[in-house]
Amino acid sequence: MSLWKRGTKPGTTVTPRGTTRPTKRAAWHRQEVAGLLGPGSGLCLDLCCGTGQYVAMLDGTGRQVVGLDRSIDQLRIAQRRAGPLIQGDAAQLPFADGTFDLVTAMWISTDVDDFAAVVAESARVLRPGGTLLIYGVHPCFNGPCVEGRDDGGQTVHPGYRIADWHREAPWWRPDGIRRRVGMRHVPLADLFMAVLAAGFVIERVGEHGAGPLPNALALTVRLPGRDGPPQRAGRGGGI
Ligand SMILES: C[S@@+](CC[C@H](N)C(=O)[O-])C[C@H]1O[C@@H](n2cnc3c(N)ncnc32)[C@H](O)[C@@H]1O
Repeated sequence: MSLWKRGTKPGTTVTPRGTTRPTKRAAWHRQEVAGLLGPGSGLCLDLCCGTGQYVAMLDGTGRQVVGLDRSIDQLRIAQRRAGPLIQGDAAQLPFADGTFDLVTAMWISTDVDDFAAVVAESARVLRPGGTLLIYGVHPCFNGPCVEGRDDGGQTVHPGYRIADWHREAPWWRPDGIRRRVGMRHVPLADLFMAVLAAGFVIERVGEHGAGPLPNALALTVRLPGRDGPPQRAGRGGGI
């Protein structure tokens, strides 16, 4: 079976070279994600893989991982970690229907133009019964209208209902990446509705973060299998 969607010309394929240490924040969340996934097998697509902070961990679970990002600059850094890596658009994936057993989408809702389209494409490239793990910004405790406080608390400013790109916020660090690229806000209801509209069944919802408030939201969702709807997950980790 071909990996590629009919008529699609794949983007640049970057060959892996060596490894690099992930940042401290990514290392913390990486452990959380590893616990949610557990060991597994089969083909895994790491959507919007960026600099590949999660690719090596995913590989270590036993799955065969393909990373995809639209930024060649991000992929150039990722190639020091693991591979194979492909340049492409998450909203128009170059892969054939039903290719992957698992799709992971880490910290992407704030960076893609159309989160619902990306979730729908994930559903298309997953096999029946396949899993999508969404792990990233918790829209209620993280995002463009949330100001972090020194005591670990947060102040929520007006703007939560603006489901669009936010281009500036007074509490963004002057030298931070958000001042440069902005931040896309996907409210909680839109996030859940994108998943349901794509035909997924929600298996597990979690709120994660090292601080007193959860800055990350995790959704484990599964496509119905050939034999009907998926079984509900238990309390433990693993997919
Ligand atoms: C915040 S980074 C997250 C990277 C990685 N998942 C991680 O957790 O370290 C978001 C990434 O999404 C990528 N991106 C944004 N829109 C995209 C699209 N339409 N298709 C593919 N990648 C996209 C950006 O290039 C960036 O690398």
